[in-house]
Amino acid sequence: MPDLDLRAAVVGATGAVGTVTLELLAERGFRDVRAFASARSAGSQVGFGDGRLTVEEATPEALAAGDLDLAFFSVGTAASRELVPHAVRGGAVVVDKSDAYRLTDGIPLVVAGVNDQVLNGDEIVANPNCSAMQLACVLKPLGDEAGLASVRLATYQSASGAGDAGIERLRSVPAAEADLSMDWDLDGDEFSEEWKLRAETRKILDLPELPLHATCVRVPVLVGHAQAVWVETQEPLSPEAAGEILRGAPHVELADLPTPGDAAGRDHVLVGRIRRDTAGDGLALWIVNDNLRKGAALNAVQIAELLLERRLLPA
Ligand SMILES: NC(=O)c1ccc[n+]([C@@H]2O[C@H](COP(=O)([O-])OP(=O)(O)OC[C@H]3O[C@@H](n4cnc5c(N)ncnc54)[C@H](OP(=O)(O)O)[C@@H]3O)[C@@H](O)[C@H]2O)c1
Repeated sequence: MPDLDLRAAVVGATGAVGTVTLELLAERGFRDVRAFASARSAGSQVGFGDGRLTVEEATPEALAAGDLDLAFFSVGTAASRELVPHAVRGGAVVVDKSDAYRLTDGIPLVVAGVNDQVLNGDEIVANPNCSAMQLACVLKPLGDEAGLASVRLATYQSASGAGDAGIERLRSVPAAEADLSMDWDLDGDEFSEEWKLRAETRKILDLPELPLHATCVRVPVLVGHAQAVWVETQEPLSPEAAGEILRGAPHVELADLPTPGDAAGRDHVLVGRIRRDTAGDGLALWIVNDNLRKGAALNAVQIAELLLERRLLPA
């Protein structure tokens, strides 16, 4: 049984992912948990189980004080780059949900149940992009069986993928008028989401040359990212065989035609409409997941549980 008395912090505790992280930690019986955010919300209260926590300001000094074993970061990239090293200096192992460290050599990018064998006493563990997370959960078992030749996908990503600001934007205007655009990559050719999805999926699956093309769009849905995916495998793989493989895959559940509403609040990645690609040699699939849970907070908590089970946290 993991030691749930370890001293944990949620940094970004007032945000969309931080709120769910606190909920999951309370459900799992973590007891010694502190909440941090920016100076803007220091002193406010957030829910934790049946009680409340007072939010502390995430200053370098507070994070480096040496009284934390584990820190879940769900702040933006710049804040992670600034603050994570202080938590590490103070002795905490950090699970970071931003893209600050995901592609850094030597820092594992982990989807629990997919590539958690790469955990190895690291100071920082990176949590992937929500879209890469659900995709990897499905591609890994199919690739293990038949080898992956190429992947094409279109994503339909919910507003909460852009955090509380995205949720607020969707709620403030009629859905048809919501500005749901994504950020451009520096080259202006792809959205950064599309580039990240390719690079992170390759790192997670340890397939650095995997041909992968994504078109990512945001849609006026509150929670739950959907993906239409076309996969070509190196060895023949029928839809029936793929279904059988996915039925037994970690964190995956088969469903006929899962919607974001079906996935919201659920732990599993839902997969349906597994069929032959009539325009090519491969398979077509439909994948839906709660971006705030397995796509972010739940995976981070599962990483922490693995670190505890394998005694990879400082004594
Ligand atoms: N949303 C998703 O589906 C999702 C999925 C995967 C990964 N992620 C990643 O997770 C991170 C958080 O996302 P989110 O959706 O939860 O964003 P969010 O709703 O905007 O929340 C951001 C949190 O960061 C805090 N924060 C901002 N600047 C800070 C600073 N300088 N110091 C300390 N705290 C600061 C905010 O606190 P205040 O209240 O004080 O402003 C808030 O608690 C991002 O890196 C995002 O890319 C998100």
